[in-house]
Amino acid sequence: MLQTMDKEARLTEEAHRLYGLLRTVSKDKNSHWSYEDCLKAAPYTLSINRFKKEQNAVILAHSYSTPDLVYGVADYRGDSYELACKARETTADIIVFAGVWFMAETAKILNPGKKVLIPAGRAGCTLADAMTGTDMKKLRALHPGVPALCYINSLAEVKAECDACVTSGNVFDIAQKFLSDKLIFVPDLLMAKNLEAELQRRGTPKEIISFGGSCCVHDKYRPEDVEKLRTDYPGIKIIAHPECPIEVCRLCDYVGSTKGMFSYVGSSKDKMFGMLTEFGLVNRLEAEYPDKKFIWPFGVCSYMKKNTLENTLEALVDPRPEQLVEVAPELAAAAKKSIDKMFELAQ
Ligand code: 13P
Ligand code: SF4
Repeated sequence: MLQTMDKEARLTEEAHRLYGLLRTVSKDKNSHWSYEDCLKAAPYTLSINRFKKEQNAVILAHSYSTPDLVYGVADYRGDSYELACKARETTADIIVFAGVWFMAETAKILNPGKKVLIPAGRAGCTLADAMTGTDMKKLRALHPGVPALCYINSLAEVKAECDACVTSGNVFDIAQKFLSDKLIFVPDLLMAKNLEAELQRRGTPKEIISFGGSCCVHDKYRPEDVEKLRTDYPGIKIIAHPECPIEVCRLCDYVGSTKGMFSYVGSSKDKMFGMLTEFGLVNRLEAEYPDKKFIWPFGVCSYMKKNTLENTLEALVDPRPEQLVEVAPELAAAAKKSIDKMFELAQ
């Protein structure tokens, strides 16, 4: 009887903790996280946090994963670059990556001695899945001598064929460091256009050769979405990810990585922001800037949302084979060169 009461008290306490973190966060377009939602999540967050400690695991969550993971169990939350840094430096025995496959694969490449788990299993990404290593080899053969950058949203077999990897947070600065007048940037065709325009704006123009990939979330925004936000919400600041089409980015007040967008909101005196990016980032901003208002037209990454509290617990307790990330050592070594080059050039 006493044990049952203890258990109930712990669940109630955990639900209150979660509610304190999530009550300002939207669950969908029409509702916020309720106390009842938090009470349902509580048994999972309690168990995950207990197993995490017992097994010396660390949980990394991309800002696009769901807020119960981001705030309930993650040790670190952030963009691709920040999480790659955390994966590289962690001394934990196990890395649980609430993100998509290329992120977990990168973590394994950077810290091969660790057990790396991805709750969602082989959660793809339309960018990473757009291109194979063979495609990359062919592209390089067509443009001999042209340096090649790959977006971190790519498979290890593509990274292995490139000179350096980049993220949305450092792509412009790293590309500028290459002195050639042409540069290959794959696989995102839309980000390639934004890169070309930004280099032109900085007075260091380059021809960017790309591939046909695009993000199925960010490639949907149109100039009309920006115009509608400005009409409906006078004075609004509109921010976008560089995976959006250039015609959209040109109309926005700020374009940057998920971390860049986060910092822009944090340092801005403005109170209302139109968000041309994935819902998870909107949730993070709602949690951390409750005094500001975020208008989000649409945009959900179904791959990121495959990570849940349920499969995170499953991965920690008894992982399915597809939740365990392995990369062949030769491939990992070749891909690591381009990722290490990014760390060097990002200094
Ligand atoms: P960030 O590096 O900006 O977090 O972007 C990752 C991503 O997948 C965006 O769609
Ligand atoms: Fe890939 Fe787009 Fe999802 Fe980011 S939002 S993981 S680029 S599909």
